[in-house]
Amino acid sequence: MSQRQPVIAGNWKMHKSPAESRDFVAALPESCRRQEAVQAILCAPFTSLGVLQEALSGSQIQLGAQNLYHAPQGAFTGEVSAGMLLASGCSHVIIGHSERREYFQENDVLVNLKVKAALESGLNPILCVGESLGEREQGGFEAKILNQVELGLSGLNLLPTHAERILIAYEPIWAIGTGKTCDDSEANRILGLIRQHLARLYGQDRASALRLLYGGSVKPETIAAQIQQPEIDGALVGGASLEPASFAELVQLAGQYGA
Ligand code: PGA
Repeated sequence: MSQRQPVIAGNWKMHKSPAESRDFVAALPESCRRQEAVQAILCAPFTSLGVLQEALSGSQIQLGAQNLYHAPQGAFTGEVSAGMLLASGCSHVIIGHSERREYFQENDVLVNLKVKAALESGLNPILCVGESLGEREQGGFEAKILNQVELGLSGLNLLPTHAERILIAYEPIWAIGTGKTCDDSEANRILGLIRQHLARLYGQDRASALRLLYGGSVKPETIAAQIQQPEIDGALVGGASLEPASFAELVQLAGQYGA
């Protein structure tokens, strides 16, 4: 068992209006809102951040966004800065999700700029990495994942406080939204490789402190076995985070089996 606090981060993607977001929080059991064993985070669309900041105030659940732009302000039509997210109540931001890499041409250089902007402003980044099915079948995909991690964090003077703030999510693209989870021991193996690589780059202490998540079709039925793997410190959850009951169950089970 690790000393790292388990994490359940919901990624709502492009779902829920502000009213639906408020209803979601209202439907959460009080035990979920008050629990402290798990770091529970809801990463919502920009348009829901305002109502969620209010709805989540006084609860243990933290608020996150799904993207940011690295400049502090300026003529960047359609973009949102780290400072704006902080002012909207966010503590976290997802960076480099495979959907952003695929549909919005985000590359490792941009991802790295965003990670730095998040950390400098005080936001905690959730850096996403992972391989496609083709890359897995071809073999040698582990090098791509380690490269994504290394480039994503490139140029950072990783302080102990950073190690506590950065979350890295391994999300095999073929497991996202498909109902096909990565085998638990395989997810554990990849996260172990990531941690070894982080130890080479930043030393064992920093690597041991960093929390590594698995993402890809995580559900209440899968989380107990996943979170018991030694390298899996939590999950980034899409579909199963959209229902209050299933989000609450994920948080409860992560606390029960992961702490
Ligand atoms: P999923 O999405 O849980 O619906 O597979 C995970 C993600 O994309 O973060």
